[in-house]
Amino acid sequence: MNYLEALNWRYSVKKFDGTKIPADQLNRILEAGRLSVSSLGLQPYHLLVVENDETIQKLIPAFYNPSQISTCSHLIALVSKTHINKEYVDNYFGHIINERGVTLEQLSSFRNNIHQFLENYTAQELESWSEKQSYILLGSLIMAAAEEEIDTCPMEGFKQDILEDILKIDKANEKVAVVLALGYRAEDDPFQNFKKVRKPAEKFIKFI
Ligand SMILES: Cc1cc2nc3c(=O)[nH]c(=O)nc-3n(C[C@H](O)[C@H](O)[C@H](O)COP(=O)(O)O)c2cc1C
Repeated sequence: MNYLEALNWRYSVKKFDGTKIPADQLNRILEAGRLSVSSLGLQPYHLLVVENDETIQKLIPAFYNPSQISTCSHLIALVSKTHINKEYVDNYFGHIINERGVTLEQLSSFRNNIHQFLENYTAQELESWSEKQSYILLGSLIMAAAEEEIDTCPMEGFKQDILEDILKIDKANEKVAVVLALGYRAEDDPFQNFKKVRKPAEKFIKFI
């Protein structure tokens, strides 16, 4: 499948068939997430992969429409950092130095720019910026799964507190931005037969 075929093949599954995804395919999807693009490269997030069936079932009450949760193979919570501080940025620079064999001096203007960026934004703006990065990551995961012919359903329809309590999220520093359920579409999921509804190109794209 090429990229456009994968986009047409995928849809947001409402009912999976309960089959488990092979580990090698799951790992390729997760690797695509790790390689996903993020603003300034800061990756202000991590993935929490729920693969244990008992834990997945415990999460059902946290969702408004849980048919995907009760039938999926895996569930990935995209956990977004709510506070980005200088220590986090300095760790990032330590990582760049190790990976690329460069010096802090060579990176000083980039580092100053990031520190400046942190100072210019309110805590709320930084939290929102951080969550946006999780949504880019979400897109990467969805499309990597589609290329593997693994179905997904992105989900925002959850009760934040209940979900975060069950997943033992460190609420002082992070939040679940969005959840991705993975598996294989059930034969009787009617949504697979629905035509895709998207704006026509002339309303979606303007050339200037
Ligand atoms: C960020 C995000 C959150 C979503 N949350 C839910 C959800 O909670 N439950 C659900 O059934 N679908 C959810 N969806 C799926 C959308 O409704 C779906 O992508 C949209 O209707 C387009 O249909 P398609 O994905 O089948 O092409 C979500 C999609 C996105 C991108």
